[in-house]
Amino acid sequence: MAGYERPDHWTQKAKKEGYPARSVYKLEEIVRKFALMKRGASLSVLDVGAAPGSWSLWLLRTMQGTGRLVAVDIQDLGIHPEAPSFTFVKGSILDDSIRTRLRELGPYQMVVSDAAPATTGNRLVDQARSEELVEAVLHLALEVLAPGGALVMKIFQGGEEKRLLAELRQHFAQARGFKPEACRAESFETYLVATGFRSPLVGSDGQD
Ligand SMILES: C[S@@+](CC[C@H](N)C(=O)[O-])C[C@H]1O[C@@H](n2cnc3c(N)ncnc32)[C@H](O)[C@@H]1O
Repeated sequence: MAGYERPDHWTQKAKKEGYPARSVYKLEEIVRKFALMKRGASLSVLDVGAAPGSWSLWLLRTMQGTGRLVAVDIQDLGIHPEAPSFTFVKGSILDDSIRTRLRELGPYQMVVSDAAPATTGNRLVDQARSEELVEAVLHLALEVLAPGGALVMKIFQGGEEKRLLAELRQHFAQARGFKPEACRAESFETYLVATGFRSPLVGSDGQD
């Protein structure tokens, strides 16, 4: 069995804890490191690129029945939470009608995105698709976040990280890159974490 196919520590832990994907531990690490959410926190959260559903399941478990979670993906989820505070929107965030629906369900105190396009094997096509998706996540977040809100989004390491951080710093009090230990060593993915969203609807003194 090739090294990348062998179930690793994180895959086995995810299976034992009932999560459909090992990616859950990346979110757990990010939330802990940046103190984004406490157990039982009553937050309104949007999970972008949610399938198969590990991040959503972790968010629901962490919020312990309080708060509200909206998940969006082109694909169906592999989890079926009964929680009344959970809404799944099936579709692409590149689609206007889906973005409108997500806005209607907002605002959110936190937007998390693990979204990644299906790869074609053509490096230029894959990079262009990835950049288009990252831009879409960023602009969606700017439209749906509540003042003071946080954004976590996956990007692929390359020339874009510096530019995206500069853009984030125009809208958030803090923004930085962070690669969780649970990311595969050979993976090019990393995450940008921005906190303290400054809504354009709120003046610099915090008043409308
Ligand atoms: C790495 S997976 C997410 C794993 C998920 N965080 C979990 O823990 O189960 C990336 C997801 O992004 C989704 N995706 C890609 N492009 C999208 C788009 N335009 N709109 C919504 N979801 C998208 C894919 O369908 C895929 O399910």
